[in-house]
Amino acid sequence: MTDSLSDLLARRVPGHSLERPFYTDPEIYQRDLETIWYREWLFAIPVAQLVKTGAYARIRIGAYNVILVKGADGVIRGFHNSCRHRGSVICQKAEGTVAKLTCPYHQWTYDLDGRLIWARDMGADFDPSKYNLKTIHVRELAGLIYICLADEAPDFDAFADLARPYLEVHDLNRAKVAYQSTIVEKGNWKLVWENNRECYHCAGTHPALSRSFPLDPAVAGVSADGSVPARLQAHFDKCEAAGAPSKFAMAGFAGQYRLARMPLEEKALSYTMDLKPASKRPLGRVTVPDAGTLLKFHYPSTWNHFLPDISLTFRVTPIGPQETEVTTTWLVDKDAVEGVDYDLNRLTEVWVATNDEDRRIVEDNQLGINSPAYVPGPYSPIMEDGVEQFVDWYVKTMLRAMGPQSVAAE
Ligand code: FES
Ligand SMILES: [Fe+2]
Repeated sequence: MTDSLSDLLARRVPGHSLERPFYTDPEIYQRDLETIWYREWLFAIPVAQLVKTGAYARIRIGAYNVILVKGADGVIRGFHNSCRHRGSVICQKAEGTVAKLTCPYHQWTYDLDGRLIWARDMGADFDPSKYNLKTIHVRELAGLIYICLADEAPDFDAFADLARPYLEVHDLNRAKVAYQSTIVEKGNWKLVWENNRECYHCAGTHPALSRSFPLDPAVAGVSADGSVPARLQAHFDKCEAAGAPSKFAMAGFAGQYRLARMPLEEKALSYTMDLKPASKRPLGRVTVPDAGTLLKFHYPSTWNHFLPDISLTFRVTPIGPQETEVTTTWLVDKDAVEGVDYDLNRLTEVWVATNDEDRRIVEDNQLGINSPAYVPGPYSPIMEDGVEQFVDWYVKTMLRAMGPQSVAAE
């Protein structure tokens, strides 16, 4: 990297995409991890993903590999997936169910609460209580599990207090996972987000999604300043009168998170090809059939759609400078029966297609940026102010972490 990160941040041109090193340079990627990913609260999984005692889910975040495990007491705990003996990963698969956590290398064995309970031939002086699994911070919010890798986690309560009433009506605690997909997009994590924060690309890219998701930015809720057109206000009022918190709320440092219940296209009740509900047995207590989708984003790890019939969570984590993992989970009511209340293909086809279409355009975006000929280009002030809002959050977050002194000294 020829220019320092602080130079690059300082000379960023508002209203334009970032310079090439932000999307390509391994050093900046490392700074992104240390400044953002290893410090902030990150969405991990819906509670519904871990049903039985001993169920676990593995998550990769940069160089970290962590597991969430459901204990015999029903509590979901988070651990580094690294054995306290010589460091091997313990859970090799992305998910599974175990009685105990046994390291595959020399079989050190941990209880589901992380305590080392068995280690062979370690001598009389060996004290197992010094070698419990290292924990990570875990918080539950209305059926969603968040984690933080930092030693000292930043505040979570401000976000949780704002989001809880919006989420509670969706009853995520009584959900079941109908389907989950994990894809790797060969693109920098910021490109995945930039693509997510605009629908300028939707008409040309997403034929299935465009049937239900409105392309009008005023309706799609990408307006960065939070201004609300009259039609949208009427939608908020209707949903709120029926007990479903809906109005646009954006908060956190530089707008780190946002919630708003946005209408879908006229006649669309869910993300299906026929626009009808994806599940006959609704998940949650949103009684307005055309309430649309509660859109929630929380940088840097998640965007979500909560509808009157189903919910969808998306988790984004970087696994390399030009590789990002995206996990999508389709949630239905736990009593909904496949083949009776919902058809799996009908439930998933719109977002399976949409994710793949987004993967393709993100990868093309990365390829074009990798060319030395790339220079930052202008955002559409009408269609891409959400992208500008994301980039602005990123730049401000990086500058804040450097502090005034390090900015001057670098
Ligand atoms: S590294 Fe896990 S038991 Fe040896
Ligand atoms: Fe898209």
